[in-house]
Amino acid sequence: MDKSHPAYETDALIAEDIDAYLDTHQHKSLLRFITCGSVDDGKSTLIGRLLYDAKMIFEDQLASLEADSARHGTQGQEIDFALLVDGLAAEREQGITIDVAYRFFTTEKRKFIVADTPGHEQYTRNMVTGASTADLAVILVDARKGVLQQTRRHSFLVHLLGIKHVVLAVNKMDLVDYSQETFDAIVEDYAGFAHEVGIETFTAIPISGFKGDNITSSPSANTAWYQGLSLIDHLESVELSSTAAQEASFRMPVQWVNRPNLDFRGFAGQITSGTVKPGDTVRVVPSGKTSTIKSIATFDGNLEEAVAGQSITITLADEVDCSRGDVIAVADNPPEASDQFCSTLVWMDETALKPGRGYWLKIGSQTVTATVQPPKYEIDVNSLDHLAAKTLELNAIGVAEFATDKPIVFEPYAQNRGLGGFILIDKFTNATVGAGMIEFSLRRAQNVHWQATTITRDDHASLKNQKPRVLWFTGLSGSGKSTIANEVEKQLALMNRHTFLLDGDNVRHGLNKDLGFTETDRIENIRRIGEVAKLMADAGLIVLTAFISPFRAERQMVREMLPEGEFIEIFVDTPLEVAEKRDVKGLYKKARSGELKNFTGIDSPYEAPEEPEIRVNTVDMTPLEAAEYIIAQILPLK
Ligand code: ADX
Repeated sequence: MDKSHPAYETDALIAEDIDAYLDTHQHKSLLRFITCGSVDDGKSTLIGRLLYDAKMIFEDQLASLEADSARHGTQGQEIDFALLVDGLAAEREQGITIDVAYRFFTTEKRKFIVADTPGHEQYTRNMVTGASTADLAVILVDARKGVLQQTRRHSFLVHLLGIKHVVLAVNKMDLVDYSQETFDAIVEDYAGFAHEVGIETFTAIPISGFKGDNITSSPSANTAWYQGLSLIDHLESVELSSTAAQEASFRMPVQWVNRPNLDFRGFAGQITSGTVKPGDTVRVVPSGKTSTIKSIATFDGNLEEAVAGQSITITLADEVDCSRGDVIAVADNPPEASDQFCSTLVWMDETALKPGRGYWLKIGSQTVTATVQPPKYEIDVNSLDHLAAKTLELNAIGVAEFATDKPIVFEPYAQNRGLGGFILIDKFTNATVGAGMIEFSLRRAQNVHWQATTITRDDHASLKNQKPRVLWFTGLSGSGKSTIANEVEKQLALMNRHTFLLDGDNVRHGLNKDLGFTETDRIENIRRIGEVAKLMADAGLIVLTAFISPFRAERQMVREMLPEGEFIEIFVDTPLEVAEKRDVKGLYKKARSGELKNFTGIDSPYEAPEEPEIRVNTVDMTPLEAAEYIIAQILPLK
């Protein structure tokens, strides 16, 4: 089969096929849309019908479809288009976590990519994936049932994801005798709700996916009372969001810097909004430096003008610093850069959000580490009520404040999807765990600046005649962390070293007395201790910390806060049975009896270090031997 043929659309398509498809129909504009509704609403039938009427089904597939329909005993001689789409869906079910099928079809006027996503509540993440690039959403309603809770949920998500065009397709009109009253009542009902979620306009069309009414160009004789366009006519004529994007201010995130030789330095990327011409004054954000566009190069030669959606390489008139992740923007209206902002977040992972944990945040071509505060609230997608929440579970949507380790360039999602939408990635599993829509930056971020100090960290260390270190002891409660750390500190003191020991039970009486033992509190506990340990290391001290610190991610976070080589992870590898048998504080007994909840090793996890710098235990060694072994490992201390 020739893969570049437009008819090669009937399977879920991968990126190469998308490119081939776009090439074939380059002269036509492209509309991306999403269909929302469940199979019961006739979604599969509608999509099958669209593909069929656009003559995009292969003859042989059509033949087998007709045979299948006959076998399934569908009404009359009609073809059951749902068989086509559902059959394909079943094939794809295995191994795909985000189950979004993209199908392509073309008409005389336009080419289309439709994202088909499952409609159930647990599939919010699929819908978010499919909708993030869509210009339009077709919200399907069964004429017999009217507006349902899922219609409301879909509409809310469609609005949240910034889809500007909404079609309310009232389907199965054939089953309500093409009644205008039924149609009008549904439209009125929907209008009230749409307004509530923020959808200002929508287009309602009475259709029958099964019989074909008002799907293709000819208005249906069955709905003589309907004066509007058919679904295809509407899809062909609706204004594209790319047109709107072209009218917005120019922005291009830099994907990479192309420097083949000393005479050429090009900044390559895809324009997210606006247009650009040679001679335009631009600003590089976040540095703020300005220059003018010298040339705009593409694979096929230089351009006089480039617009949103195009991938280009820009050269600038001046030698300004600009690297991957920076944004080149129109000089007088650049996007902002900040390291704190408020965002809507859709959680897409089986494991709930861990406030305080560092995740990779990818936005445009920028990747940074971000931490999420406990949500301000979760949104009930059915009632739109704001609910109190400590975290977000799979498919939950909430609003939370974010902090990143360095400033990122962004715009509110409502203004610019390309610079306002981001994904969160788990640093250990590499899974995409969340999708966010930035609302606004937090002003406080702009007003806090680093204070440059005269006496540097190196000065502090050399005055103390030592190299700062953080000796990070981790292990179960009762494993011997505090005892060994205490012994190490004693020996260091004998060697005239300047040290400080931060211990779990002590810190929890002061600095962290507001924290308990939930996962969120433990993450915050370690974050604060990490910050304190870092300040003490900046002061030139050898810091010893003795905390269970059960999660790999937070230990890694502290490691990354410090200069290479300064963080030394010491795993006090005493088995649970031994620690439990000793039970110095009687806590294991309480945990086993259920009196004490979330106890590490019992009903709260401990993630052992995979490659600690030093491993000791208190079974084969005495605390003194363990301490001596550690000291031997960390010498010399200068
Ligand atoms: S951590 O998990 O957040 O790193 P941290 O080291 O500060 O814990 O505190 C652990 C100490 O708190 C334990 O040694 C024990 O004395 C006490 N403790 C009280 N409740 C718990 C609990 N549920 N789980 C673990 N330790 C607890």
